[in-house]
Amino acid sequence: MVRHPAALDWSSSLETLDWSELQSLYRLAPLGNKDQALLRTVFANSRFKWFVRDAGKLVAAGRALSDGGDCSYICDVAVLPSHQGTGIGKEVVARLVADSHGHKKIILYAVPGKEDFYRQFGFLPMRTAMAIFEDQEAAIRRGHLAPD
Ligand SMILES: CC(C)(COP(=O)(O)OP(=O)(O)OC[C@H]1O[C@@H](n2cnc3c(N)ncnc32)[C@H](O)[C@@H]1OP(=O)(O)O)[C@@H](O)C(=O)NCCC(=O)NCCS
Repeated sequence: MVRHPAALDWSSSLETLDWSELQSLYRLAPLGNKDQALLRTVFANSRFKWFVRDAGKLVAAGRALSDGGDCSYICDVAVLPSHQGTGIGKEVVARLVADSHGHKKIILYAVPGKEDFYRQFGFLPMRTAMAIFEDQEAAIRRGHLAPD
């Protein structure tokens, strides 16, 4: 039985984190295949992070990369399919937005089709956002970038 978000275990600690479980979470969500070494680096460098467990099992995660004043970038938000639609994703984003309070801007980019999930928190599309992805062609194919 999936429990209410408030009844789950919420932690920001990397010490108790099973990195292979985090990797599996992203694969199953699905949010892609993320290398464990890369996950260690990016989570260690992220000022804010949340890991959600249900009876010890990792069911959701998310992080925000913050410079401590100007900008906080929310990313890697994912919930296991078995727990999606129960309010956990919303609570993860709400916590990262609250953690980021005081920054001049909080930014993110959604998986195409998930924009409305973020609108409910007040996020609006950025008119001039641009990016260089390691694999530009793949980012264009996935719908993250608009070709020139
Ligand atoms: C997107 C995701 C994080 C949402 O988390 P979730 O726990 O399933 O969503 P919640 O149950 O917290 O949804 C809360 C609210 O958002 C809405 N919502 C959820 N997904 C939505 C979507 N794709 N579009 C619009 N609204 C959405 C729900 O209807 C609900 O609204 P309500 O509070 O008015 O009832 C989750 O489905 C997921 O991990 N998906 C796969 C990975 C992914 O795409 N991550 C996002 C990267 S941008």
